[in-house]
Amino acid sequence: MIKVGVVGCGAIGSHLVKAILARYKKTISFCGVCETDAGKVENLKRSLKKAIRSYSLEELVSRCDLVIEAASGKTAVEVVKLALRHNTDIMLMSVGGLLLNPQLLPKIRKKKINVYVPSGAVAGLDALKAARMGKIFRVQLTTKKPLAGLSGAPYINDNKIDLNKIKKEQIIFEGTAIEAVAGFPKNINVAAVLSLAGIGARKTRVRIVASRLVKRNIHTLEIEGNFGKIVCCSENVPSLENPKTSKLAMLSALATLDGILGDVRIGT
Ligand SMILES: NC(=O)c1ccc[n+]([C@@H]2O[C@H](COP(=O)([O-])OP(=O)(O)OC[C@H]3O[C@@H](n4cnc5c(N)ncnc54)[C@H](O)[C@@H]3O)[C@@H](O)[C@H]2O)c1
Repeated sequence: MIKVGVVGCGAIGSHLVKAILARYKKTISFCGVCETDAGKVENLKRSLKKAIRSYSLEELVSRCDLVIEAASGKTAVEVVKLALRHNTDIMLMSVGGLLLNPQLLPKIRKKKINVYVPSGAVAGLDALKAARMGKIFRVQLTTKKPLAGLSGAPYINDNKIDLNKIKKEQIIFEGTAIEAVAGFPKNINVAAVLSLAGIGARKTRVRIVASRLVKRNIHTLEIEGNFGKIVCCSENVPSLENPKTSKLAMLSALATLDGILGDVRIGT
């Protein structure tokens, strides 16, 4: 049995806790959660009709074999530091936090803890990793989101962008993945995932479109290299609990967990 804990009981975290308790009874010993909002834990307990243990971040990390972070970029950085201290494997959803703190990468490699990064809301990572074995000329992510999926981002506030004035759709950001993650820490983790899998955060290009016309989070990935060209697009249903988060991101965390548990399977 692998001891697992979850940090953050929002859209992704609560979905994961429910799935862990329902599906993985024989393979996972569920330790508990760390959540700063006591109301979120109460809601989760109520919907599960079950008690769940709450711990401080360090206590949870020290007790578990694997901790799944589904909280925020800043929390992800804390989780990495504590995981290094306690030799705990981690799964990170707020990958942007890692991207903005690259000094952690050599420490992770030296300590040899496993850091799992789910594919999140984007498609095409397998092809990007394959293309990296040759030469990649260009990686471009274009993310189109409904206005509610972008509100409150630091870049929008700093640049005084009034989303309510957008009549149809508007490109509100163009830049590198590292700039995108810094400006939109809760909205564009996919850019961080792509950067880690591909050509890095300073070469991966990101365009963000705020749209009144769409109801889904649409990510279009273009890769060009000496292999040819790939264009792939995912049209993601936003989660009911958090419109910034796509349902596919929750499912990708579950798929990663499934992989860690080492279910026998044939194929990729
Ligand atoms: N990798 C991806 O493709 C991808 C996709 C969607 C979301 N995300 C990221 O995953 C994270 C979770 O997403 P979500 O939709 O569940 O968010 P959410 O806002 O619904 O939930 C986050 C929860 O974490 C809690 N929290 C915040 N700081 C904490 C801390 N220090 N310790 C404990 N709990 C803390 C909050 O109270 C909240 O309940 C976010 O950072 C989001 O940006 C990543």
